[in-house]
Amino acid sequence: MSLRARLAGIGHHLPPRVVTNDDLAQLFDTSDAWIQERTGIRERRFVDEGTTCTDLAEAASRQAMEHAGWEPEDVDFILFATLSPDLYFPGNGVFLQKQLGMGPVGALDLRTQCTGFVYGLATADAYIRSGMYRRILLVGAEVHSRGLRLTDEGRDTAVLFGDGAGAVCVEAVEADAPAQGDRPSSQLLTHALHGDGANALDLCLKKPGLGSFPFISQEQIDAGDTAPSMNGREVFKNAVRRFPEVIGEVLADASLAADDLDFVVPHQANARITEAVRSRMGLPEEKVASNIHNYGNTTAASIPIALSEAVHDGRVQRGDLVCLAAFGAGFTWAASLLRY
Ligand code: UT7
Repeated sequence: MSLRARLAGIGHHLPPRVVTNDDLAQLFDTSDAWIQERTGIRERRFVDEGTTCTDLAEAASRQAMEHAGWEPEDVDFILFATLSPDLYFPGNGVFLQKQLGMGPVGALDLRTQCTGFVYGLATADAYIRSGMYRRILLVGAEVHSRGLRLTDEGRDTAVLFGDGAGAVCVEAVEADAPAQGDRPSSQLLTHALHGDGANALDLCLKKPGLGSFPFISQEQIDAGDTAPSMNGREVFKNAVRRFPEVIGEVLADASLAADDLDFVVPHQANARITEAVRSRMGLPEEKVASNIHNYGNTTAASIPIALSEAVHDGRVQRGDLVCLAAFGAGFTWAASLLRY
């Protein structure tokens, strides 16, 4: 029997504490006007003390499983995408497995930052098509707030990032499953994954790390090496080029065109990047997810949060042709095309 994968359920979770641009302007030299004009962001969420990235992932996963009608024991495998794990090692997958009270299922952490969710979806699809697993829980979750440098020196990245989580339940279906009424049957269609280490240092976290000695020191913390280091213009320039390119690649692979798309969920990096991609592709505003004004950039969580919102408020319906696309640290860029 030939197998395909489909999204059986989706959920998301944002911590309740809202941090506005004005709140940040109390802490360092910035302004609501600058942040909104350059990024579109109005506010983001920060966790309170005691809440971990795994906690956010657990809440999003429980919502996704409820939507799919799954119990934790139904899950065969966990994929966890994050750049802000609770510990340097082990990865967050095993913490999530424990918190959800699951049996000893495999748990794989993905470290491709902004593209983590799309890489994870492609991985889940490959496992399912191969017959290795039938029910995979994929989560993208981040706690950025504890790693940001909320000072004048760190302001270029401190204003961008927020905390949050999104999760999907990916399940096996027969490849020739009948369509649902007049809607095309729900399945993941194709993916494109790319990376280019030539720009690795244009967006990175220098420390802690074992590429140089020491692993971490007070001097390195004071120098800002534990906060993201970013060449914003280089990221921006490449993102605007790579998003349309990689979306075009998956559409061509499926012999479809931009006009066929019902909905696009770009990684929420900057409202200006999303707008540039939307206008280059000639897509109407209502077909492109944009929620960065509420949550900032939540890296691996941004796509599942935006898709979950669109599914739960009815903008995305079963059978719709949806494209997910991301660009970020690595540089890595990626897209998935699916029938929801
Ligand atoms: O998921 C991928 C993650 N990253 C991204 O997607 C980032 C992509 N890049 C960007 O979004 C933009 O490059 C930024 C929003 C980060 C910056 O916007 P920009 O238009 O490229 O500004 P800039 O870095 O060229 O800085 C312009 C000015 C500078 O002042 P001077 O040198 O012109 O006097 C900065 O010092 O804005 C200043 N600036 C700020 N001012 C107020 C930089 N950060 C801030 C700030 N508040 N937070």
